[in-house]
Amino acid sequence: MKPTFYITTPIYYVNGAPHIGHAYTSVAADVMARFKRLDGYDVFFLTGTDEHGQKVEQAARDAGLDPQTHVDRISADFLDMTRAMGVSNDDWIRTTEERHKRSCAELWRRIAASGDIWLGHYEGWYAVRDEAFYDEDELTTQPDGTKIAPSGAPVAWVREPSYFFRLSAWQDRLLKLYEDNPDFIAPASRRAEVMSFVRGGLRDLSVSRTTFSWGIPVPDAPGHVMYVWLDALNNYVTACGFPDEDAPRWRFWPADVHFVGKDIIRFHAVYWPAFLMAAGLPVPKRVTSNGWWLAEGEKMSKSLGNVIEPRELVATYGLDQIRYFLLREKPFGTDGSISHHAIISRINVELANDLGNLAQRTLSLVARNLDGVLPGRGTGTLEDAGLLTAADALPALVREAVERQTFHEGLEEIWKIIRAANAYIDHQAPWALNKTDKVRMGTVLRVLVDAMRVVATLLQPFMPTSMANMLDQLGVPVHARSIEALAAPLADGIHLPPPRGVFPRFVESPVAPPGGPAA
Ligand code: MSP
Repeated sequence: MKPTFYITTPIYYVNGAPHIGHAYTSVAADVMARFKRLDGYDVFFLTGTDEHGQKVEQAARDAGLDPQTHVDRISADFLDMTRAMGVSNDDWIRTTEERHKRSCAELWRRIAASGDIWLGHYEGWYAVRDEAFYDEDELTTQPDGTKIAPSGAPVAWVREPSYFFRLSAWQDRLLKLYEDNPDFIAPASRRAEVMSFVRGGLRDLSVSRTTFSWGIPVPDAPGHVMYVWLDALNNYVTACGFPDEDAPRWRFWPADVHFVGKDIIRFHAVYWPAFLMAAGLPVPKRVTSNGWWLAEGEKMSKSLGNVIEPRELVATYGLDQIRYFLLREKPFGTDGSISHHAIISRINVELANDLGNLAQRTLSLVARNLDGVLPGRGTGTLEDAGLLTAADALPALVREAVERQTFHEGLEEIWKIIRAANAYIDHQAPWALNKTDKVRMGTVLRVLVDAMRVVATLLQPFMPTSMANMLDQLGVPVHARSIEALAAPLADGIHLPPPRGVFPRFVESPVAPPGGPAA
């Protein structure tokens, strides 16, 4: 039996259109999901939409729609974006589904049964934009006297009856969880932040609201709806069939990794494990957080009009090109900037030149000088062995990078081989060998095909369509494209199809691409 692997993205608020930040977390999680499948795991990959709460209710009102009609529309738009980004999720969860309401009611009952819920009054600051409560000392006063949260969101004073979760009782057990599991929170800088927040002391958390109704009712408590974060976080167990622990999907719980943005780490690394422990459920193994994308160096916002629409980028540059760019351009955990200039440079230098030309040069020589017949390796030289040994070491390096979410380093390792292969082809000059030593030419081309096979196999999770195309051209049968299959060499003498370019250069048209002209 294959080992299981459960991976999730945050579920997206349906208060506005999807933007590149949403697409990014989904694509990064998708790369890991695809890599794990390629590496022999039984993967369950979940994404979806977060549809309750005051913020969504307000967005529906602003749009002049009843909440259900509004959330149906926006959720469909997020699903369309998810498809457009090539995300290979196995399920699409919406928090307005019956299965989720049932699951939340049961989670609530279990936490209540453990004695961790009490009824009181909440009085304090709340930011609807973040759907989060803040302490006075976390806020900044603006010149006009209004207060804002650390995220920049405006806050309002609320006072209402509320149920509380006894978070204060979980401080030591949470700290023990982090200490016993050093990989529970990544990257390390976020882990340190969370630990110092928890060491600073935890206050009980308000987990129900009474001043609006767009939420999941608290069992046996008329007028109370669940705090949207309790509802939202619970999606991760709903999709595994909770509360039915005989459900086939329950085998995936606890999750192996939750992908989240750096702004929502506290909810996932503090509240979520505390809720689960209180309910007597196992906690996830890892919460990994990504940094933010800026648009040409500036924070994206509707008011600045610089929000990047992922589907427009894909229409302009191509899906695999954008997926590659997003994973290569910045380290996963840190902030980075998207610019048209940077996208074009990655496409033209790394994809078209380094990788595309390597394939084209090699495969057109096989087609032209060997009638498309894949030669055997023959007797190798030290240089051949150097390239092949480096290629053989690649799967372990990329696996490690994916496991740590250092995707950019994994890609850099792959590009080291691509650059080494380019240096090798220049030095061996197989085009000249055609006249002087055809046998040696065959060996050189075969070494290149074998190195490229490793590269294309490992790049499949990043660029699925282009790499399927490249593996077709390299003569790799569809059933032999896993990491394990690399151990078995391609049969000598097979016929390779005529080569076709995989990555065209991006030539700027006189018309500016969406989002403005290239910088
Ligand atoms: N609904 C909550 C998550 C609940 S998970 C149980 C939520 N939704 S969100 O739509 O506001 O944000 C979803 C994700 O998008 C977050 O991880 C957030 O960090 C990410 N991003 C939003 N803007 C972003 C950028 N500009 N760049 C990168 N990611 C960003 O929070």
